[in-house]
Amino acid sequence: MSELKLENVSYIYPGATRKVVNNVSCSFAAGKVNAVVGPSGSGKTTLLSMLAGLDSPTEGALYIDGEPLAEMDLDHYRRERVSMIFQAFQLFPLLTVLENVAFPMELRGIETKDAQEPSRDYLNAVGIGPEKHGRYPANLSGGEQQRVAIARTLASGARVLLADEPTGNLDKANGQNVIDILKALAHERNYCVIIVTHDLNIAAQADHVWQMSDGVLTEQVAHQEVESN
Ligand SMILES: Nc1ncnc2c1ncn2[C@@H]1O[C@H](COP(=O)(O)OP(=O)(O)O)[C@@H](O)[C@H]1O
Ligand SMILES: [Mg+2]
Repeated sequence: MSELKLENVSYIYPGATRKVVNNVSCSFAAGKVNAVVGPSGSGKTTLLSMLAGLDSPTEGALYIDGEPLAEMDLDHYRRERVSMIFQAFQLFPLLTVLENVAFPMELRGIETKDAQEPSRDYLNAVGIGPEKHGRYPANLSGGEQQRVAIARTLASGARVLLADEPTGNLDKANGQNVIDILKALAHERNYCVIIVTHDLNIAAQADHVWQMSDGVLTEQVAHQEVESN
């Protein structure tokens, strides 16, 4: 399991005075899909970069499975505990599909030959069959490229998957496919999934929906009926 917890987390960009993330306390549990929604500029990406260990909070503390990030080696945290999925898939164009997925395993010191079989398994698990493993990313559709990016994320061994608008470049069917994979990873394999999205259809499928407004994060109560007066 992997759970991320935030306690009174605030972030001010260097040289600025405004809290872009303002006193956020929450937890993101393993086995759940979390969606973070909110207007542009409300602080979603800044929040995600703290969760990813790319930035440290100005105030407050983050914990993974109870361990404070402030006391961890953040290089190790970024390499092994969390994994980011980007809107623009960020695959290596000169590596094959299989090599792209094997790469994070090789970073962890696993030999190329030993990385092959698990990498094939991760690709098959996201619906990229063997006939595509030797192709270059340019010869796949956008939806397939995003699935390879997810397979690479799985190969990193991280149990927390962070995604910033992961379906932003995809058509509806491929976008849904990616969301289905992320849902299965959370519900069947106990990953902690956190998706920043503008897409209310995606948010509606999450287990928890968080609203970011001006740096303040609040959980939306599921299926709340709004009564009209
Ligand atoms: N490097 C930076 N330096 C100063 N301010 C920044 C920087 N990056 C983002 N901001 C500001 O922080 C606020 C939140 O940005 P961001 O987290 O990217 O929001 P979102 O992802 O919700 O659109 C915005 O007002 C943005 O202009
Ligand atoms: Mg953003």
